[in-house]
This record gives sequence, C-alpha cells and structure tokens, in this order.
Amino acid sequence: MIAAPMKPEQEEQRMKTLPTAPPARPVIETIDLRKVYVTGDTELEALKSVTLSIPTGAFVAITGPSGSGKSTFMNLVGCLDRPTSGSYRLAGQDVSGLNETELAHVRGRRLGFVFQGFNLLQQVTTLENVELPMVYAGVPTKERRERATAALESVGLGDRLQHRPAQLSGGQQQRVAIARSLVNRPALILADEPTGNLDTKTTGEVLDIFQKLHEEGISIVVVTHEPEVARRCGDTIMFRDGALVEDQEQINAWKERR
Ligand SMILES: Nc1ncnc2c1ncn2[C@@H]1O[C@H](COP(=O)(O)OP(=O)(O)OP(=O)(O)O)[C@@H](O)[C@H]1O
Ligand SMILES: [Mg+2]
Repeated sequence: MIAAPMKPEQEEQRMKTLPTAPPARPVIETIDLRKVYVTGDTELEALKSVTLSIPTGAFVAITGPSGSGKSTFMNLVGCLDRPTSGSYRLAGQDVSGLNETELAHVRGRRLGFVFQGFNLLQQVTTLENVELPMVYAGVPTKERRERATAALESVGLGDRLQHRPAQLSGGQQQRVAIARSLVNRPALILADEPTGNLDTKTTGEVLDIFQKLHEEGISIVVVTHEPEVARRCGDTIMFRDGALVEDQEQINAWKERR
C-alpha cells in the first residue's frame, strides 16, 4: 500500500522528532584507565586512573619524563596491551573487554603504528614492507601493490620501491614506516618517538607528512621529548608519574623551551 503524502504540518512535526546528527565521537576516550605491572613480587602502577578524551581528527603530542607512562598509555591505546582496570573506547567502540584475536583485528584495521626504531623488515623491499599489513588484512595481491605504491608515493618515496631498508637514510626509513601505517586507512596513527633517531631537517620532513595526514582528517598521537615537535602538534598532553598533568601553563612553558 502506498502511503498518502504528508500534510505540511505533519511533515514539520516529523522533522522535529527526527534525531539530530550525533556529535562526532572522540577517537580516544579513556575512563579511569590503569595499568599495574607485576614483576616477581613487585607491583608498579605505571598508569593511574587516566581519564581522557581526544577528538577525532586531532593531532596531539604526548610528553613527560622518562618512565612517566607514555609508552604504557600508547600500548593500551594501540590495543597492544590490556589495562588492569578502566575502560577505553576507540572511535566509539569499547575495546577494553576484547580478547587477543579481537584486539589484533582492531590493530590491523583501525590503527597505524610508527616507532622510534622504524621496525622495518630488513630482508624485504620497501614495497613489501608497506604491503605487509594488507597481507594480514587479506587484501588481494594486485590491490596491495597499488595501495602500497600509492602510499610510498604520498611520502615521496615512489622512486625507492625496490630498495631494502639498509639502503635508505633514517628519514626515508621512517617515511616507509609512515606509509606502512597508512595503507589500511586507519582511524588513528600512533607514533612513539617517531623523530627520536632523526636530525632536525628530517624531523621537519616527517612532521610535514603528519601535518598533511592531519589535514586529510586522520587522527594522530605522537609521543615526543622534543618541544619543537610538540609545537607542531595542535595540543599537548603531559604525563608525570603515570598521571596527567592538568596545568596548561606548565605545558605551555615546556613547549616554549628551545
Ligand atoms: N613490561 C613492563 N614490566 C614492568 N614494568 C614496566 C614495563 N613497561 C614499563 N614498565 C615501567 O612502567 C613505568 C612507565 O614506563 P613507560 O615505558 O610507560 O615510560 P615512558 O614514559 O614511555 O618512558 P620513556 O620516555 O623512557 O620511553 C616505568 O617505571 C617502567 O619501568
Ligand atoms: Mg616510552
């Protein structure tokens, strides 16, 4: 049966009752996130009740002294480890209760990782390194090759497809790692000290690529000890002794440092 057309006042009433678009979900939302490491009979609370929300599309720096919990936080946010307690939503999905297999799936499909030491496979080409996450995701060979080539071109390495990591400079290797982090079109890129092994010029080049990805709408979180790197990011979050530093003035003062 075809419904009779609505009268204008009915239509207006219907529009009023339609739900408005939901606000964009934060890409990271943690509530009382805790991590306790147990070594022998010693317990160490590396992360203490961290409640934090990072908006989708943000470009955020995480800083803080050595041992303050930055990598611990990144490992939890990156679904590489499970919290002792608390909850974590990644782009709206509660991932705190997932098992190992489910976490691996989330890592492969929704996250990209960039590490200080690049973590490339030495015995294969740059192209094969970038294809790897798509092998795990079951992407067909031809598409894999095309997407890996495009990702390498987007980081300025279209002419280095057949090189092995040892034949590239540090900055080029990190750009390969960024290309690899991109190929599964992640919601979030997590980078732990991505410029720690790079000189100033190459650091600038890597940050230019992050800036471009940020402008394309990808959410990026970068752990860094370098104030000049943090200045390039939109916001800075600081950890101390496993907890967030709330004092924005302190954070700004650190970022002003040369
Ligand atoms: N797997 C682990 N087992 C036991 N303790 C750990 C483990 N990983 C980290 N820790 C401890 O947890 C605390 C936080 O470590 P974390 O690696 O998160 O610090 P960080 O802020 O990343 O430091 P850095 O700037 O040196 O990389 C440290 O005291 C560290 O010794
Ligand atoms: Mg660390």
